[in-house]
Amino acid sequence: MSLGRTEVPAVDWDEARAQVLARIDDMLGSELPGFPHWADPTTGEWFCTEDGDWTGGAWPGMLWYAAAQTGDGRYRDAARAWCARMSKRADRTTAFKGFGFFHGVALGDLLVGDEQARELALRTASSLVTMYDERLGLLPLGVQAEESHAVGAAAASIDSLQATPLLLWAHGVTGEARYADIARAHTERVLDLHVREDGSVVQSSELDPATGALIRTHTHKGYSDTSTWCRAQAWAILYSALAAARMPGADVWSPHAIRVADWWLEHVPADGVSYWDFDDPAIPETHRDTSGTAIVASGLLRLGSVLGERGARYTEAGERTVAALVARHLTPYRPGSGTATPGRLLDGCFNPRPESRPQDAVASAELIFGSFFLLECLQMLTGVAAPGRV
Ligand code: GLY
Repeated sequence: MSLGRTEVPAVDWDEARAQVLARIDDMLGSELPGFPHWADPTTGEWFCTEDGDWTGGAWPGMLWYAAAQTGDGRYRDAARAWCARMSKRADRTTAFKGFGFFHGVALGDLLVGDEQARELALRTASSLVTMYDERLGLLPLGVQAEESHAVGAAAASIDSLQATPLLLWAHGVTGEARYADIARAHTERVLDLHVREDGSVVQSSELDPATGALIRTHTHKGYSDTSTWCRAQAWAILYSALAAARMPGADVWSPHAIRVADWWLEHVPADGVSYWDFDDPAIPETHRDTSGTAIVASGLLRLGSVLGERGARYTEAGERTVAALVARHLTPYRPGSGTATPGRLLDGCFNPRPESRPQDAVASAELIFGSFFLLECLQMLTGVAAPGRV
C-alpha cells in the first residue's frame, strides 16, 4: 500500500468539523445568488448555478449534516428551502440527478426524517427509473446530462453510478422491487464496462444503441482515454462500497469495492491526496484533486464498516485520508493560503480540459462536492452518521 509512507499529523475530528461548520455559517450569511458550485481559492467567493446543475445537492446535503449534528432548526429550514429550489431538476433526463437528490435530498429523510425531502427524492427516483434502457442494460447518461460532450442516449460513464444510491434508498422506502432490480443491473453493467483488468477505472463509454455492445471507452474529464482520472476511480470506490452496504447480497458487491479501493491504495501518492489524474506526465507539477480524494475517503470508511473486522485496513486508510485532507488542504491549516475564512477544502480540480463547460473550467479551487464529502467523513468519524446508512 503506498498510502502511509508520509507521516500524517494527528487531527481532531471535532475541531475539523467545527471549521467546516464555520464555512457553512459564512455561506448562510452571505446570501448566495444560486447553488454554490466552486469558490475562488483566494477570495472564497462562490461561482453559483441557477438551478443546481449536477452538484446542487451538495449544499443542502451539508446543511442536513449540520442540522443532524447541532439540532439547530436554522440549518434544517435552509436545507428545506434549497431542496425546494432544486425541485425543477427532478424530472430532467440525466443519470447525474441521482447525486443531488440522494446526497442532498434523500439525506434529509435519512438523517432527520424530513417528509418534504422524502417526497421530492421519491418523485425524482420514479423519474430516474424510467431512464433504464433494456438493450444497454443500464441508465444512459441521458440527453440532459451535465457533461461537456457526447451525452447521447447510448453514452455511459462511471459517474452515472450516482444513480445507484437514490434507487436503493427508494427501494428501502417503498419496497418496490423495480428500484432494487434496476439499481443492481445498472451498477453491475457500469462496473463491468469501466473497471479495467488491473482494478483501475476508465471514465466513459459509448455503446451501440441497437445492441448495447461496447463501441469504445474514453474520458470526458481525465488526462486521456487510457489514463486513470482521479474521480473515475473515486466514484467507483464510493458507489461499489455503498452498494455493498445497502444492496441485498453484500458479498457480491464488496469484491468490486475491494478491487477498486486496493488499486487506489497502491497508486495514491504517499501523502494520501491524489493528483487530478494518475497518468498526468506533469506529476508532481500539476493539480491535486481533494474532491476526488474526499469521495474516496467516504467510500473507504463505508467499505471498512461493511467488512467488519476484515475491513480494518480500509477504515484506517479512510481515516488517514481524511486526516491528510484536513491537515494540508483545509483552511486555516494551510500555510500561506492568503485566506482568513476557515473550513475551506482547497485544491479541488473540477475540469482542466480545454473543452470543459465554462461553469466547470477551474483546476484548483474549493469544490462544493469535495466539501460535502469531507463533512460526511467527519460526521461518520464523530458518530453523527453511520457509514452503512448514509
Ligand atoms: N461528473 C462528475 C464529476 O465531475 O466528477
